[in-house]
Amino acid sequence: MAETIEHTTDIMSSMTLKDTPTVSSSTTPSETSSTTTPSEPSTPSPTTPVEPSPIEARQEKLLQPLEPSILSQEKLDFARQVIEKDVSIKPWWVNKYKNEAAKNWDKFYKRNETRFYKDRHWIEREFTVYKESSKKAMRSLEVGCGVGNFIFPVLEKNPDLFMYACDFAPSAIELVKQHKDYAEGRCEAFVCDLTINPLTDHIEAESLDVVSSIFVLSAIPAEKLEAAVRNIKSVMKSGGMICFRDYAVYDAAQVKFSSNPGHKLDTNLYVRQDGTLSHFFSAEQMKTLFEQEGFTTMECDYVHRETINRAMALSVDRRFLQAKFVKN
Ligand SMILES: C[S@@+](CC[C@H](N)C(=O)[O-])C[C@H]1O[C@@H](n2cnc3c(N)ncnc32)[C@H](O)[C@@H]1O
Repeated sequence: MAETIEHTTDIMSSMTLKDTPTVSSSTTPSETSSTTTPSEPSTPSPTTPVEPSPIEARQEKLLQPLEPSILSQEKLDFARQVIEKDVSIKPWWVNKYKNEAAKNWDKFYKRNETRFYKDRHWIEREFTVYKESSKKAMRSLEVGCGVGNFIFPVLEKNPDLFMYACDFAPSAIELVKQHKDYAEGRCEAFVCDLTINPLTDHIEAESLDVVSSIFVLSAIPAEKLEAAVRNIKSVMKSGGMICFRDYAVYDAAQVKFSSNPGHKLDTNLYVRQDGTLSHFFSAEQMKTLFEQEGFTTMECDYVHRETINRAMALSVDRRFLQAKFVKN
């Protein structure tokens, strides 16, 4: 379904066409919000469609290879201005969305099945650590694995790699298990809320060489991130690496959220139309989080991508954070 999302605030309307962060997607599966609307009076639920990931999928296709770069000061100032004006929705709604995150992701995968995300072949190019499995058998974990768009490509290329995969959406794990390449001895998928359920229920403590976290921590409210990182750390070997990529502050998607008030839950945390959450991280925030939990930062950089829709002569500035953290 072709879809175009336009921003209509005063600030946005004063932008040039090229600067307007308008997102056009021809790959987005049709999606109806299934967020239940409770009867809290006078506070609307989010009404503007803000799709999570076709943007990522599209930018992967259009913008290879991945290289770090920075947004111009002018664009950063503009993004900051829009974001700072936005205000949080009422606490009752904030709690509701935070409490229903798992349910809403489960509905997301029931609705979209395997059609939403593309295979993430780029991860292995960016995080070459997986290639080391050709020299020694390696055990790894993908947290928030979704329907397995990373695990199956990486397993295919690395025959001596074993991969655990977990997600808190049972429907996603069911789809992983139904995948034609799901094979005992190569991978094991299980349902787990990283912020609550000990990973050691499924994985031997301190046994993993690598953990990947790709657009997952952004789905977790800030107050639960420490618990999630501690949980991941418990199953990693000393010297093991976390490969991290996620949304960064001042990304066009954040500007888009803030341009349509009614999405903001907390600082840099928003709710999508379908009730799933999206946090935008700064490098300082992530470094502090991992370092205080006993990791060393090897890399932590902003990656800027200008996604161009040639047909509409529009560009969108995507901004991600990519990092490698090693357990002390
Ligand atoms: C944006 S999707 C990314 C999926 C996958 N990593 C990828 O890159 O295709 C975020 C995923 O994180 C999962 N997730 C969010 N919070 C989680 C939590 N607390 N514990 C486990 N999984 C979680 C969601 O169910 C969803 O599958």
